This record gives sequence, C-alpha cells and structure tokens, in this order.
Amino acid sequence: MDQIRIKGGHRLEGRIPISGAKNAALPLLAASLLTDAPLTLSNVPYLADIATMLSLLEQVGVLVDVAAAPSGEAGRVVQLTASRLSSLTAPYELVRKMRASVLVLGPLLARAGEAKVSLPGGCAIGSRPVDLHLMALRNMGAVIDLDNGYIHARAPKGLQGGEVVFPLVTVTGTENAMMAATLAKGETVLINAAREPEVVDLAHCLVSMGAEIDGIGSDRLRIKGKDKLHAASHRVVADRIEAGTFAMAAGITGGSLELIGARLAHLNSVAHILAAAGFVLTETSDGILAERVGPLCGVDIMTEPYPGFPTDLQAQMMALMTVASGASMITETIFENRFMHVPELQRMGANISVHKASAIVRGVPSLRGAQVMATDLRASVSLVLAGLVAEGETVLNRVYHLDRGYERLEEKLAACSADIERVKAAA
Ligand code: UD1
Repeated sequence: MDQIRIKGGHRLEGRIPISGAKNAALPLLAASLLTDAPLTLSNVPYLADIATMLSLLEQVGVLVDVAAAPSGEAGRVVQLTASRLSSLTAPYELVRKMRASVLVLGPLLARAGEAKVSLPGGCAIGSRPVDLHLMALRNMGAVIDLDNGYIHARAPKGLQGGEVVFPLVTVTGTENAMMAATLAKGETVLINAAREPEVVDLAHCLVSMGAEIDGIGSDRLRIKGKDKLHAASHRVVADRIEAGTFAMAAGITGGSLELIGARLAHLNSVAHILAAAGFVLTETSDGILAERVGPLCGVDIMTEPYPGFPTDLQAQMMALMTVASGASMITETIFENRFMHVPELQRMGANISVHKASAIVRGVPSLRGAQVMATDLRASVSLVLAGLVAEGETVLNRVYHLDRGYERLEEKLAACSADIERVKAAA
C-alpha cells in the first residue's frame, strides 16, 4: 500500500488549483438516471469515490464517457446517458465501498418505479442510518421493504408529490428526495432541507435539466414534478472542503496560499473562525488568499449544518489547534464518532482530551513526526497537516482514504514548497 512521507517545517507559499467538489459531483452523477437524454458534467474531480459511482451507474445501464478537460481547464468531462436502464439494483459490493451510493435510490425509483439498493451499513465515523431517505420517499408514495440487507422500493404508478419534514438536516437525504421529486406527480415540499452549496449545485443542474424548484439555497424547497427531464450540461462547483483544508495548511505552516477557483461565500463560517485564530481569508479575482497574519491562537468551534462550521473540516481544524497558543474546545454535533484522528495526533505529541462529543486541545510548542494512519478521509488529511509542521518525518499509511477525496494532494502541496512525496508500495 502507498504511503505519504512528509518532512515538516516548510512554510507553504504559492497557488493551488481547487478541484470540483466530490460531494457535489456524486449526486450530480446520480442525477443522470432521471433522464434518457445525455447529462454532461465538467470539472469532475478524478477520485476513487467518483470511479465507484461511475461503476455503479454503468452497472445499471448508464453509458459513461470520461474525457480530459479542454486544455487549460481542470478535472474531467463526464457524459452520462441513461437511455435504457438494464438493472434496478445497486449491489452490496459497490455500496459497501461508498455510502453515497444510496444517492441512486431516489432517481432510480422516480424514473423506473422500482429500485433495489443495498443498505450501506455502518462506517468509521458513526452509524449513519438512511431512515430519513426512506421516510422522504415513503411520503412521496413509495412502498419500501428491507429485505436481505437490501432496500427494495416500489412505486409502480410513479411517485406522488408530498410534504417531507426532516427532523434533522441530512445532505444526501435532501438530495435523494429532491431528485425523486423532480419526476413525481404534483408538488413536493421539503422542510428543514440541507442548504449546503453541494445541494444548491445539484438543484441548479436539475433546473437546467428542466426541473422546477423554488427556494434553492433555503431550508424549504418546493419542487413541481415533471413528466420528463431533458439533456443538460453543468460545471461542478469548487470543493469548499478542499479549499478549507489548504487554507489550514497555509495557517499551520505560517504561509500564504492562493486557492484558485475557491469561493469565499461558501466558507464564511470558516473564515470567521480562522480570523479569530490568526489568519485571514480574502477574496481575490481568482479565488481566495489564505494568509497567516499573526500568531496562531486557540479558538472554540462547534460543527453544524451549513452555513455553520462543516464537520468535514473539524479534523483539519483540530490539527491546526494542536500548535496554537492557548486552548480550544472542538465540539462535534453531526457524527458521534468523528475523533479517530485524536490518538494519532497524540502520537505526534498533541495534547488533546476527549469528553463525549467535545475535545479540548491545549496547544503545544511543536509536534514530532511519527508513523500514523487514519480510518477516514478527513482524519487522514488532518495528519498530513500535522506532518507539515511536525519536527522530522511523518509517514502516513492507508493513503487510499485520502485518494477517496483529494485529487493529487501531495503534488499540489509539493508545488508550494512542502517536502512531501508519495512512496509507492513495493509490489
Ligand atoms: C454528507 C457528506 C459528508 C458530510 C455530511 C455532513 C456527501 C456524499 N457526504 O454525508 O461528507 O460529512 O454530509 O455534512 O455529501 N442521519 C440520520 N438518518 C438519515 C440520514 C442522516 O439519522 O437517514 C444523520 C446522520 O447519522 C448524521 C446526520 O444525520 O448524524 C447528518 O448526516 P447527513 O447530512 O445525512 O450526511 P451524509 O449525507 O451521509
């Protein structure tokens, strides 16, 4: 298995291109199931999770064509044509690799009147059930049975518009319901819907496919179902989590990075917190400039649904706080088991104690390099951040977690003076 080796202590400086957002691209790819006409997506990041979703779509009969972007542009251009669905089943082997596979449930059911999707099961950061996805589809008239580890959903006469009140904010749950509602008969209202920029990006793409959606960007979405959607082209929004991660790389090394293509509007709560921690994010004509302007200070954060501080940046923020002056309390409210990076950061010399959903981080003057590994994507990248500032060498194992969500991470950092390389595993 590949490793990432980092020699800490280099101040990062330069420009980093921000990729298309993984969490936007995944539902956008699934949206291709809603129409028999081609959907063309550009700025699609080249990541393991994207490859998993493409395999899943091919499995159900979608024709997938992946091309390089025209010169000077980033990402891939993916054309998806679901003119004929050859299967309505998302098998366990693919769903177990990636929970977001459940995003095919709503579109398949809405288009074909039936879908069988393996239950995703548990994952490293918590139990993560899909009960709210099922509740939403049931409110649109679906009959759903759980059978042999599979969700079997049926709506032989098509879905009917309905009202869905989400008791808590769910990102992929909102996306599944919104996609299904575009082909339901009548009007669907989603209340307490997720407002993440990735949900907004999906809504805009659906509108360009002919869907009628009011309230985009708010927590109340009103969708008028259509008989059919049509061909469209859409560019995937920039990855705010990747941008936030690199901003913190600038912060932890006392450097300055321009994040090309990133949108400050999507990182407002993060910018606010980072300003209190000693570095600023400012908008430039090309993206965002992240710059340390003073000593790093401990700040408190609590993760929340958008527009609050994202849980997907919590681990990175904790890495930053390990070397700040003073203490920081980090409270995780979205996932119950999202502190797996703590023992690894402690092995690098961090002073952290966890009390239920909160971690108290007391800043230390320096971290020491170590062999580390992590069990999820964001935890892995927090160890890379720690490695950038640690004394000596840090070796990150289980790099496949990083490859699920960061495109060419080590190349992007190395181009900005980090001493970082991928070491290919001996065959
Ligand atoms: C998405 C993101 C993930 C991010 C998370 C929270 C994608 C592909 N993934 O995950 O990176 O960390 O949002 O911003 O976009 N819940 C239920 N029942 C459900 C659904 C969710 O109880 O049916 C709970 C979850 O256990 C969790 C909370 O709701 O505690 C929020 O989860 P949710 O927003 O659904 O996360 P995902 O959409 O899976």
